[in-house]
Amino acid sequence: MPRDRKQSKQPKTTLEEQIPGAFEGETVSRRRFMTGTAHAAGGIAVAAFTLPAVGMAIGPMFEKAEQNWESVGPIGDFADDTYIPRTLTIVRGIGDAGKTTVYIRQYNSQLDSEERDEYNEFIAISTRCMHLGCPVRFVGASQRFICPCHGGVYDFEGKVSGGPPVRPLDRFYTRVRNGQLEIGPRFSVNSELRRFSPRDPGMPLDGIGQYVYPARPTTRKIPGT
Ligand code: FES
Repeated sequence: MPRDRKQSKQPKTTLEEQIPGAFEGETVSRRRFMTGTAHAAGGIAVAAFTLPAVGMAIGPMFEKAEQNWESVGPIGDFADDTYIPRTLTIVRGIGDAGKTTVYIRQYNSQLDSEERDEYNEFIAISTRCMHLGCPVRFVGASQRFICPCHGGVYDFEGKVSGGPPVRPLDRFYTRVRNGQLEIGPRFSVNSELRRFSPRDPGMPLDGIGQYVYPARPTTRKIPGT
């Protein structure tokens, strides 16, 4: 009989294993069954807590960051020695929550430290602070961007001049169509204003920062980067 069971690869019954309280034909003891059930229930409970958290943490990495070009007015509206604020829609379909303020000006060879090229004829600066994302405000009297949350200060070009922000303010790609200035995708810059695909606040881009904090897989590569 044992040889037949071995040949057919049937598990031993609890009766054959001489487990106390065994039943005829039972192959899993009640203790083992209850232990397995408890482990399975525990695993399901842990998964119910952790999977949504993991999903929320990594989900945004795979969201497609789509932004269309948006006209913000005739190019003559924008000076080269101060910023003009404009409202831009960065997420469509959610009303005011999807809008942001962008500060725009023309390139100024006296004030800009970067070389002029086809991508910075007009400069559009994001108001999202690069510390934790609070909205910054351009103060014309001091020619600086000020963050009200933790005292972050940025100079006229959006470079960090004080406080905890880890990199200059992000910018938006610009182009001119039929005399209208259009604002396109966002990009990030390091302290030398070298362009990178968009990063989130708190991600430095100098030194090894650009490798430690890579762009999300779904963000579009920006021309000129
Ligand atoms: S969020 Fe701007 S300084 Fe902290």
